[in-house]
Amino acid sequence: MKFSSVFNAMLLSTAAHAYYVNDLSSSVNCREGPNTTTALVKQYKAGDFIDIKCQVSSQRVFDYAIWDKTQDNCYLTDYYVETGMSSNYVARNCLYHGSNPGHAVDDYRYKDQCDEVDPWNYYICQCVSFVAQRINERQGIYFTNRYKGQIWGNANEWVDAARNSPNVTVDLVPKKGCVAQHSRSKLGHVAWVHDVDYKRKLVTIEQYNVIPHKYSMETVAWDAFDYYIHLDCDH
Ligand SMILES: *[C@@H]1O[C@H](CO)[C@@H](O)[C@H](O)[C@H]1NC(C)=O
Ligand SMILES: *[C@@H]1O[C@H](CO)[C@@H](O)[C@H](O)[C@H]1NC(C)=O
Repeated sequence: MKFSSVFNAMLLSTAAHAYYVNDLSSSVNCREGPNTTTALVKQYKAGDFIDIKCQVSSQRVFDYAIWDKTQDNCYLTDYYVETGMSSNYVARNCLYHGSNPGHAVDDYRYKDQCDEVDPWNYYICQCVSFVAQRINERQGIYFTNRYKGQIWGNANEWVDAARNSPNVTVDLVPKKGCVAQHSRSKLGHVAWVHDVDYKRKLVTIEQYNVIPHKYSMETVAWDAFDYYIHLDCDH
């Protein structure tokens, strides 16, 4: 029995990674990195077979921020791949290796498009949009404002959404790469936990829109936030 279930799992996982280039363009570019500024490696035609080795969230192409790494070790925007309408990830993340929160840097992709809508359905330049980018790009979780069927709208709604989501925990102890939340302002606030000092109970966070529409970093006491939301259950 064991053998047959392993065998089925292997069949499923092989099948789950086979996709085709759609017909939205007659030829599409597969590049060295997951954005259109990197070198062209190969072109595919509509109908070509793609084996998705892994995926990342990166530069948006039309409404899609997902890029697929193919059997030719190049990146193709998921806009041109028949992976279904859900826009969810269909393979593991290429970059995410555990709970590393990444570099503290203003790499927010949409800072020149404030008040438009981001790929995860948030208004651009708000704190929630910046944190959504961090979760997608640094944790490889396909996070949107309807993650796990809950309403992750304004920052003051995130704790209830988290509590109603399987495998998401909420507590008072920050961990690197989790989300800091408070409801002390009208719509609340969320920030990305970059670092934690357990001895002095300090947390270093990255955030948007405390300075209006801008990035900032702060080191504050843990209780400057109400809760810490752990989306990745390994944390
Ligand atoms: C594009 O991808 C390359 C390779 O991964 C990376 O070094 C570069 O920073 C990326 N540029 C943008 C704008 O994301
Ligand atoms: C929760 O996480 C466990 C372990 O990763 C996984 O097996 C399970 O399917 C998850 N449950 C839900 C409802 O996502």
